[in-house]
Amino acid sequence: MIEITYFGHASFLVKLAGENIIFDPFISPNEKAAHIDVSSLRADYVLISHGHEDHVADAEKIVKSSNATLVSNYEVAVWFAKKGIEKYHPMNHGGSKSFDFGTVKYVNAVHSSTLPDGSSGGNPGGFVIKHEKGSFYYAGDTALTYDMKLIGEEFKIDFAFLPIGDNFTMGIEDALKAADFVGTKKIIGMHYDTFPFIEIDHEEAKKAAERAGKELIILNIGDSISL
Ligand code: NI
Ligand code: MN
Repeated sequence: MIEITYFGHASFLVKLAGENIIFDPFISPNEKAAHIDVSSLRADYVLISHGHEDHVADAEKIVKSSNATLVSNYEVAVWFAKKGIEKYHPMNHGGSKSFDFGTVKYVNAVHSSTLPDGSSGGNPGGFVIKHEKGSFYYAGDTALTYDMKLIGEEFKIDFAFLPIGDNFTMGIEDALKAADFVGTKKIIGMHYDTFPFIEIDHEEAKKAAERAGKELIILNIGDSISL
């Protein structure tokens, strides 16, 4: 079983093979996540999909306090290295690397990736994590793209973290197609409600998923599930 805890926006803790993996930590600037104490979080790995503020805000703090390894694309990883992060692992699109918990593949996302200070954050991506018992997909911020079909061909995806907030990323209808492309019925929604631009109707989204024969999991901030 994989334990997943939601920290709001696109941030999750995934406990896998005894390792704590935190994705895209944007917690302290998020009023909706005010009850999450960032200083209490411990990570072995912090995975960053792209350079936008709403994905990197708490990464430096968590990586430094936990002595975690930061994994991202080359530009984002090196930007953090210049902030004094010692353990970092740069990747680029199409590349895979084995870590303690499994293999990470950095895959395409259709989006942008400028870092908070205006530096280039390279090109945005997502991650496929292949571990001993299966695989899952963390899409990052992205549009629907046919590239997702390659993920479905290469991996047996058990569940996918997909953006559903629309406006800056896919909305629910495209996320349902993305789930088809990668070959899963189970979607964990992310990147919704944080800002007025991306507020969604949860019941409508769940109904749309049901009509498409999918399960949409919408977690309350701070809640955990095991998959
Ligand atoms: Ni973004
Ligand atoms: Mn974003």
